[in-house]
Amino acid sequence: MLKMLDLHSHCLPGVDDGAKDLSESIAMLSDSFKQGVRVCAATPHCRVHRPSSVDTFLEKRAKGLEKLKPHLTDEMPKIILGAEVYLDNDINNYQGIERLCLENTDYIMLEFPIDKADPRWAEWIYELNRKGLKVLVAHVDRYMEWEKMMADFKGLDVKYQVNASRFTEFMAGRLVKALMEYGHDYVVSSDMHNTKFRSCNMGKAYEKAKKKFGDKADLLFSENASKIFGIQP
Ligand SMILES: [Fe+2]
Repeated sequence: MLKMLDLHSHCLPGVDDGAKDLSESIAMLSDSFKQGVRVCAATPHCRVHRPSSVDTFLEKRAKGLEKLKPHLTDEMPKIILGAEVYLDNDINNYQGIERLCLENTDYIMLEFPIDKADPRWAEWIYELNRKGLKVLVAHVDRYMEWEKMMADFKGLDVKYQVNASRFTEFMAGRLVKALMEYGHDYVVSSDMHNTKFRSCNMGKAYEKAKKKFGDKADLLFSENASKIFGIQP
């Protein structure tokens, strides 16, 4: 079984619209481990709109982890911490945003408004890069203008995350073909929110990808994440 890394999940109890309580967190993580996930990043939603936003978010996230910690077992993935930061304004205006990076990396995961690409995003990312922060674009498959975004972000220090559901639900998508060709910049993650309609589907997605693309699938579900972020499964 491939040891997978899942860099996008809402598995902490009661922090955002993900796991509603401790028992759901435990069920999500146990299921994810059974599918082969060995490292899971807890990346709750975060909005930075005022100077206190980062502190408030980190306190809330820490409380979620505190609740979960005593219940983590060897049959669950190792948890690392991160955030899914909504980029609807220039977060460079705020102090401490580097504390939102994925644990032990200089990558900050950004989520964007879904319907229309904004030319200012590239400027804001350029500024983040200048400060030494690299960007992981959350679920690039969900944006209406993903091709335009990728063109705008060319030359910037940006990597892309694709939701596993893209493989289980929309196999023939142009994006899947494109990312298999340029596999080194992409990672696949679950973006799991609960045990029902947005549960972990990494195992099923990997099986489908493996069938269609062979060993290249291992890059997307494990090797790229290790290489880019220095995290071992
Ligand atoms: Fe998410």
